[in-house]
Amino acid sequence: AGTVTYNWDVTWVWAKPDGYGRPVIGINGQWPCPSIEATVGDTVIVNLNNKLNNQTTGLHFHGISQKGTEEMDGPAGVVQCPVPPGSSFKYQFVVDAPGTYWYHSHNMGQYPDGLRGPLIVQDPNDPYKGKYDEEVVLSVSDWYHLQSLDLMRGMLSPTNTRFAPPFPDNITVNEGLGSRVNFTKGKTYRIRMINFSALASAMIHFDSHTMSVIMNDASYIKKEDAYMLRIAPAQRYDFLISAIDRDKRNYPFLISLDYNRDYTNSTLGVRWPLNYTGYLVMDQTQPLNKVDVVNKWKPIDDSHFKNNDGSGILGPYNQLIKLDFKFCLDKNGYPRACFNNLTYIDQKVPTLYSAATTGNSNTNPTIYGQVNPFILKSGGIVQIVVNNYDEALHPFHLHGHNFQVLDRPKSGTGPWPGRDTNYANTPPERDTVTVNGNSYVVIRFKADNPGVWLFHCHIEWHVEMGLTATMIEGPDTLQSLTFPDDHINACKAGGTPYQGNA
Ligand code: C2O
Repeated sequence: AGTVTYNWDVTWVWAKPDGYGRPVIGINGQWPCPSIEATVGDTVIVNLNNKLNNQTTGLHFHGISQKGTEEMDGPAGVVQCPVPPGSSFKYQFVVDAPGTYWYHSHNMGQYPDGLRGPLIVQDPNDPYKGKYDEEVVLSVSDWYHLQSLDLMRGMLSPTNTRFAPPFPDNITVNEGLGSRVNFTKGKTYRIRMINFSALASAMIHFDSHTMSVIMNDASYIKKEDAYMLRIAPAQRYDFLISAIDRDKRNYPFLISLDYNRDYTNSTLGVRWPLNYTGYLVMDQTQPLNKVDVVNKWKPIDDSHFKNNDGSGILGPYNQLIKLDFKFCLDKNGYPRACFNNLTYIDQKVPTLYSAATTGNSNTNPTIYGQVNPFILKSGGIVQIVVNNYDEALHPFHLHGHNFQVLDRPKSGTGPWPGRDTNYANTPPERDTVTVNGNSYVVIRFKADNPGVWLFHCHIEWHVEMGLTATMIEGPDTLQSLTFPDDHINACKAGGTPYQGNA
């Protein structure tokens, strides 16, 4: 295995992905941000220099297990202090599983300002090797004309009694560069699709073409043909498309962003959904026809996906974590989001540092502050149930693990009945799962990766509202942890995390 090294200056860049100019956060003076490309087993090194002048920063590598490198996971206030302007910070970790990932800032609601990019890990044992000719990365995102800090000020103000998130102004594909994808008739493409959104789910449909879905997030599934996919913020799908070999024309693909509700609900008085037409360009001499408008958005139901190797359900479980999600007010009347009536409050001392420096008391959840902490025993099987009391769907992400998705019933089902039913035998694994509106989700994983791992809604605005829990896994192992100098220096320099209105 090799080493891939990136030297990145994080800088403000002027960009207009949808025609409207604004400052965005780029890398080495460029935006869109570059991709990280590696092969399973490689060591990835990112030498980051914060040249933003006015903001702290940091990077998280979404979906990467960080086995043995839990201090490299990235979230500010959790495993590191935010990197102050003028400081450098080195991330180093091994990519141990293939798939489509992404990296993004995990500090003060910063990734909607642009600091994000694909992270592709190639599979030397790719079961689809030889079954496709080329790869295409397709990212989709909601897009905002104002900067995140300004948007959040409004969201977190006591006048926001409806707990409304900021609404996007537009939709972008490949950060504004993605409207034409060159296809050659007869070739098969592996599309790696990533949703970078801070809020919106995307529906995607390719005119006249079938998507053969082979991975959800970074896990192989038993191949499923789909005509339409819904991809929630932070989720990924890998699918194969064979460029059809029939008539002389180009084919549109359609992407539509919604407010994570079912498409029947458009009472919000905002410009929903945001629609986008791109093209599979097979023949440059032919026109780009706007045909085949989709008027019924009905994505494939991913709740019946199966894993690819026939693995059974993990279990029985030793620990059940039940999280009831509702919007809530903090004691000062500010809008927040709560698990079990408690909102997450950003910590000045990263939770991992608390775990590493408090000896045996690190098994006591009360030492961690208001972070919705759960202590996980090494080696145990953990089941998390999220009850969603909101009418919109929410994508929940667990750091450090893939989990099995055991149950994900449709909107309106109500909360988990409190007992396990006959879950399907070969559940898919993911790192980000959507819980439908007024419904629940049941996930399971093995606590085989000591560290401090967040579990949160990946709507970035809801992270800033406190919709986060903290898994403190294998605290006994964490007692011996030490931290590199640049990590300690980031804390000494007083790069405090954004405090919101907590
Ligand atoms: Cu994409 Cu907490 O992460």
